[in-house]
Formats: sequence, structure tokens, C-alpha cells
Amino acid sequence: MDRPHRDTILLEDAEILSHEAFTGEQYVMRVRAPGCAARTRPGQFAHISVDPQRPMRRPISIMRVSADDGWIDFLYKVVGDGTRLLAQRRPGEVVSLLGPIGEPFDIAAKRPLLIGGGVGMPPMICIAEALRGGDAQPFVILGSEVPFPFDIKPSQFLVDGLPDGVIGAMPLLEDWGIASRLASLQGYAGCHNGYVTDLARHWLQGLSDEQRSEVVVYACGPHPMLEAVVNLARDFGLPVQVSLEEYMACAVGGCAGCVVEVATPQGPAMKRVCVDGPVFDGYTVF
Ligand SMILES: Cc1cc2nc3c(=O)[nH]c(=O)nc-3n(C[C@H](O)[C@H](O)[C@H](O)COP(=O)(O)OP(=O)(O)OC[C@H]3O[C@@H](n4cnc5c(N)ncnc54)[C@H](O)[C@@H]3O)c2cc1C
Ligand code: FES
Repeated sequence: MDRPHRDTILLEDAEILSHEAFTGEQYVMRVRAPGCAARTRPGQFAHISVDPQRPMRRPISIMRVSADDGWIDFLYKVVGDGTRLLAQRRPGEVVSLLGPIGEPFDIAAKRPLLIGGGVGMPPMICIAEALRGGDAQPFVILGSEVPFPFDIKPSQFLVDGLPDGVIGAMPLLEDWGIASRLASLQGYAGCHNGYVTDLARHWLQGLSDEQRSEVVVYACGPHPMLEAVVNLARDFGLPVQVSLEEYMACAVGGCAGCVVEVATPQGPAMKRVCVDGPVFDGYTVF
């Protein structure tokens, strides 16, 4: 029997190195997890024990990883008991971490368009960092309806096709030489006042036919956003990969608690988001 995930997921006691709070109950947590860091590919996640008294772990995407220094960054938002307990953990404490888990993105695109909404931003940051300094020309669009967990910076990169005044960017991406823009309905300065997909449409329309033919779309975010992204990709005839979120129990493929219906050449099939995903071809799920 084919067991592609056997021996690829590690269990590590990960020391919290830093744990920073941002507006909107958002947190960035850095942990020391050298084994997981050495194996992570963009789109994968870790299943984290939020508190020693809670048996159920919580899945969180890997946002940044340093294989050399052995650390991993997570960005998460408090939405319930589990994430609230996690937010109380302090640097020096240890969290049990299972990872890296899941099918990663296939990032071999010449012109990747990365679209992240809310806590769907981390996998896009992870792709961007992996592409840093390479031949690909990524463009990143991030959306949030709570203040972004970073100070918005005017971009040093001119990007054709965008509405006037949309100049806000993520500083880390700027440092990496990667163009980005931000969208929100909250009227944040420098951000597009609308949806990430509006901004993506402007950007795609600003490309030449040849440039557009090189685009692959990658997305992670709330379900309605992903559906809109897939519809946008369909309008332009572009490949699209999406990362899904589902409730998870085991997160290692054993309980079937996370299945979604996916179109296959043989007809509809039930796939586990944890190990068959979380990344899927967007057209097979929407
Ligand atoms: C592969 C994967 C990657 C994820 N990456 C991140 C991340 O990088 N950052 C982050 O903040 N969150 C991420 N999540 C979501 C995170 O796992 C949930 O927010 C968390 O499990 C909620 O736990 P809780 O005990 O705080 O809340 P609960 O009490 O379990 O739930 C509180 C609220 O959150 C909603 N919720 C809980 N779990 C999910 C879920 N899986 N999908 C959609 N809604 C849910 C519930 O409907 C409820 O409204 C990811 C989920 C998956 C499956
Ligand atoms: S959570 Fe158990 S199979 Fe996915």
C-alpha cells in the first residue's frame, strides 16, 4: 500500500522563542523546531498542542521557516478556546508540535500571483520567502478586515494596472524585493478599498497577453474568498492552487474528520484536507 506520508511528519517539543501580540488578537509566534524547519515546504502546516491540559491540537500554517537556524514562525488569530490558550504561552515554554503536514504548493511558476486573506496570509508569505532571489516574479496581494499585523509601508515597486493611491505594502516583502499590495474594506491608508480579487483583476488586466500566460494563482483565506479567486482564475483561464481549512482531529490522515469533496477524473471523491491537501487544484474543489 502506498503511504507517501509515512516518516515525513515529526513530533517535536518546540521552545517558544518569541510571541508577539498585534491588534485584533493576532499573534506571531516563533518556535525552535529544527526537524520540522528542515523539512517544511510552502503550504504545509503544523498541528500544535496549545496547552498541556488540552488533548486536541490545533492546525496552524507555517509562515516562515529558517532551516539553518531551526526556527518556524506562525501567525494566528484568537477565535476560540484553543487559540486563546495558545496566546497565553510565554517565551521559554515548550509546545508540542507535529509537522510539517500536508501537500505543499507547486511553486514552479514564472509569474506567481499570491493572494492571502486574513489568517490565510501565512502560506503566501512562506511561498514568497521560498521564491526570494529566484527567477520568478511574484506579486502578492494580502487582505485583512482587522489591522494588518505589520506597519504598512509605501511600496518601492511600481506595479502597472492598479488603482491610484494603492501603494501600501508589507515591509518584509519589500525587504525581500517582492512587490505586494494590500486590500481591506476598512479604509486603511494606502490599501485598496475593496476585495483582494478586485485588486488581482486590475493587476491581471495590466499585464500583456504573454505575461498573463505565465501567471499561476495561489490562494489561502476564507472560503468565499477562495471561491472568488477560483472564479477570477477561470475568467482569465489561469491555473489556480488553493489551500483549504477544515476542522481537524488527528491531522495525519487517520480519522477522516477533515474530508471534502473533490472532483477527480473518475468522478467526485472524498479527500482528507490534512494529508491529501490542504493544497488542492482550485478547479477540483470549486
Ligand atoms: C491547514 C490549516 C491551517 C490553518 N492555519 C491557520 C493559521 O495560519 N492561522 C490561524 O489563525 N488559523 C489557522 N487555521 C485555523 C485554526 O486552526 C483555527 O482557528 C483553530 O483551530 C481554532 O481553534 P480554537 O479552539 O481557538 O477555536 P474553536 O473554539 O475551535 O473555534 C472558534 C471559531 O473558529 C472557527 N473554526 C475553528 N476551526 C476552524 C477551521 N479549521 N476552519 C474554519 N473555521 C474554524 C469555528 O467555526 C468557530 O467560529 C488553520 C486551519 C487549518 C485546517
Ligand atoms: S484530521 Fe484526521 S484524517 Fe484529516
